[in-house]
Amino acid sequence: MAISELLDTLRGASSRHLEELIQWLQIPSISSDSHRRVEVTKAAEWVAEKLDRAGLEVEKIETEGHPMVYAQTPVVPGAPVVVVYGHYDVQPVEPLEEWISGPFDPTVRDGNLYARGATDDKGQVLTHVQSVCDWLASGESLPLQIKFLIEGEEEVGSRNLEAMLPTLSERLACDCVVISDSSQYADGQPAITYGLRGLATYELRVDGPSQDLHSGSFGGAVMNPAIALCHLISSMVDQQGRIQIPGFYDRVRPLEPRERQQWKGLPQDDREFAAAVGVDQLFGEGGFTTDERRWARPTFDVNGLRSGHQGEGVKTIIPATASAKISFRLVPDQDPQEITPALEQHLRKHAPAGVRWSLRVEHGAPGMLANTESRFVQAATDAIEKAFGVKPVLIREGGSIPIVTRFQEVLGCDCLLLGWGLSDDNAHSPNEKFRVEDYHRGIVASAILWDEIGKLNQSPKT
Ligand code: BES
Ligand code: ZN
Repeated sequence: MAISELLDTLRGASSRHLEELIQWLQIPSISSDSHRRVEVTKAAEWVAEKLDRAGLEVEKIETEGHPMVYAQTPVVPGAPVVVVYGHYDVQPVEPLEEWISGPFDPTVRDGNLYARGATDDKGQVLTHVQSVCDWLASGESLPLQIKFLIEGEEEVGSRNLEAMLPTLSERLACDCVVISDSSQYADGQPAITYGLRGLATYELRVDGPSQDLHSGSFGGAVMNPAIALCHLISSMVDQQGRIQIPGFYDRVRPLEPRERQQWKGLPQDDREFAAAVGVDQLFGEGGFTTDERRWARPTFDVNGLRSGHQGEGVKTIIPATASAKISFRLVPDQDPQEITPALEQHLRKHAPAGVRWSLRVEHGAPGMLANTESRFVQAATDAIEKAFGVKPVLIREGGSIPIVTRFQEVLGCDCLLLGWGLSDDNAHSPNEKFRVEDYHRGIVASAILWDEIGKLNQSPKT
């Protein structure tokens, strides 16, 4: 069978492809929510069953947390082996009132499918599942071996996968890991992502009096934990967002002049960017362009703040406690393990008297850089150009996929990040969406990619 016949079959199956994605998106697989355990497992089973029906050898791998789904097609002697990695877990959905249609009631409006997980990552990983299942359904064998690893804990740091990776390494042996969990550079401009930022996340808590106090009777006598927390937060970063923790920038890998030059050629407009997110001006470190700051410079953020009276009206208190969820985006070669002691040292120095602080370490991951010269990048360039009609640009992105650097280290493989999403897809935010056309083009690009990679020889190491 010629690949063109398969592509026609794929294009003819678009309404079934969409219906299946809708089914998967109806399952509220929020990995951080302990009340959703049953639903999270249901989402794993949904994709396991789909792969099983298509004839793959499927295994549900139990972990201490949520299960992983592993599936493989038959070995093809002499041909490359690819692992497709993705995640079926999703982020929490609040604020619920901002969703136009329910987060688990997938709805198509203006060519977009709206639901939590539409782009991050069910819709994107399903493009590869569809291309492989339909390839096998055509009665033809694949020209390479594909192994799926679809996990349920990416959005909570992939801790269990990381711990189990050494024992899974034989099963996951491959030449290249393919991941679709990122974005195109812009509408109409697909991209191959060769770099991601890392992450270090914490909860910082400040405790003061043993219970809330009347601020009239006690204000002026007792340090306010919410103010102490604000002091600590503002001590960490200057007005431009430069992090003030001593030693924090020591290992930051400077941008290559060649890379900066290449990025300057990308169509980027700060005013449009600001308007698209609803701010009147962009923000950040001087001396770097917006893409440089988002992709290759470390940043500090407050992701959530909690203290005192949140209800209606006034309540004049000194709250007993205040807490913040904070995170640092890291770049190669920063080590998340080294950030914690530096942060603790900084907090010790800056904490005001009269309160106690504590720091809970959540999760961390280093930044990633992939080989842009690999033959897989070439194969993907051809596949994307054929499916999208436009040659992809090479970019980095600012988000994190915690397990990718471990794949590089443990499996010794190349990594190919092919994002079908758009940066305004509202990942992690209300009204997450995935453009229906991009879902279908992703499926076509995926099938062409298997065809292109099948023409390459297996590398000597596998
Ligand atoms: N899909 C994202 C990663 C991503 C985001 C890549 C933006 C490129 C651009 C992934 O699912 C994600 O959100 N990861 C988290 C990891 C964290 C919760 C451990 C992230 O980056 O915040
Ligand atoms: Zn995400």
